[in-house]
Amino acid sequence: MKFDTRVVRAEIEPDPTTGSVVPPIYQTATYVLPEVGRDKGYDYTRSANPTRQMLEQYLAVIEGGKYGVCFSSGMSAVDSCLKLLSSGDHIICSDDVYGGVSRHFNQILTRYNLHFSYVDTTDPENVKAALKPETKMLWIESPTNPLMKVTDLEAMAEIAKENGLYYGMDSTFATPVFLRPLEFGADMVVHSTTKYLSGHNQLIGGAVITNREDIFEEMKFVQKTIGAVPSPFDCWLTMLGAKTLHLRMSRHSDNAQIVAEFLESHPKVAKVAYPGLPSHPQHEIAKRQMDGFSGMMCFELEGGIPAGKLLMNSVELCALAESLGAVETMITHPASMTHADVPEEERHARGLTDGLVRLSVGIEDPEDIVDDLKMALEKV
Ligand SMILES: Cc1ncc(COP(=O)(O)O)c(C=O)c1O
Repeated sequence: MKFDTRVVRAEIEPDPTTGSVVPPIYQTATYVLPEVGRDKGYDYTRSANPTRQMLEQYLAVIEGGKYGVCFSSGMSAVDSCLKLLSSGDHIICSDDVYGGVSRHFNQILTRYNLHFSYVDTTDPENVKAALKPETKMLWIESPTNPLMKVTDLEAMAEIAKENGLYYGMDSTFATPVFLRPLEFGADMVVHSTTKYLSGHNQLIGGAVITNREDIFEEMKFVQKTIGAVPSPFDCWLTMLGAKTLHLRMSRHSDNAQIVAEFLESHPKVAKVAYPGLPSHPQHEIAKRQMDGFSGMMCFELEGGIPAGKLLMNSVELCALAESLGAVETMITHPASMTHADVPEEERHARGLTDGLVRLSVGIEDPEDIVDDLKMALEKV
């Protein structure tokens, strides 16, 4: 089955009772057992639910993995991967991860004696230099949120393998349409399904996909034990959204290329980071390991902070909003929104300036998106 067919059809069987093309939602907490000590594969929805399992199998198939485990948010999916570790372990992490991830690592997991080193993983030498005897995990985001840094995934796999590290990869920005990190040696892939996978700003969800049975078993154990499970309805909605993933992603990517080229040529724009632009420092790596460049970018205006704020307050079509990866174009101010909890000094050290603007390019007519930005840039 080709990739596009898998996205539409994989693991989605008509309902055996009625033939309904769209599978039913098993909106239940519990299941009646035929007798003591025997069940029909289900006893309690925190442990297993048919609607959730359908989504889990589906996500595994489109990501090119054996196993999928769904969670109630991207953050609980990330957290579950970190539960593979024990007190005293050290993690090497991309230095430009989503602010919620670094907040979780720095303000919660450090309380449990986990230690983190943040390095620019676009250079594998930085990762090698950060290795310690107690290093147990490599945590990569690529492209990163919001600076769009791209990491060479095969180089990371080599380091992880040589040093016996778990290799986790947050692929929320790329989606399986453009990148399948398991093919490049990652042990587990995480998605915030809130974003492109569900695609319509309709829910919060997350998933972990892996080929490793030991990781899968641990994820299932964490899922049923901690209970950060998505509702059956949210699983069903994710599935509904995901069936058009390939179409949406190709439009997101085409539109983003047009918008990035427009911004790069605009005299009031100081710099644009989009992996599809030849000026992007890792454009060649992105071309090699991705089948497209997705819909995310960030840029900075010549006028710095005041200009950036004025732009974000002036746009009309682009929604000033916290999230990304939905059909509507959304504009974000990382310093005051998605990365507000990253201490100012750390933000600036990471290159995450106060004037930085993040754009999640939607699937509207690209001319309308460009016109909206053009209009707002005139006011700056
Ligand atoms: C790259 C990335 N990973 C993880 C998350 C967390 O996902 P969620 O908001 O679904 O918990 C986000 C949210 O923006 C994100 O951008």
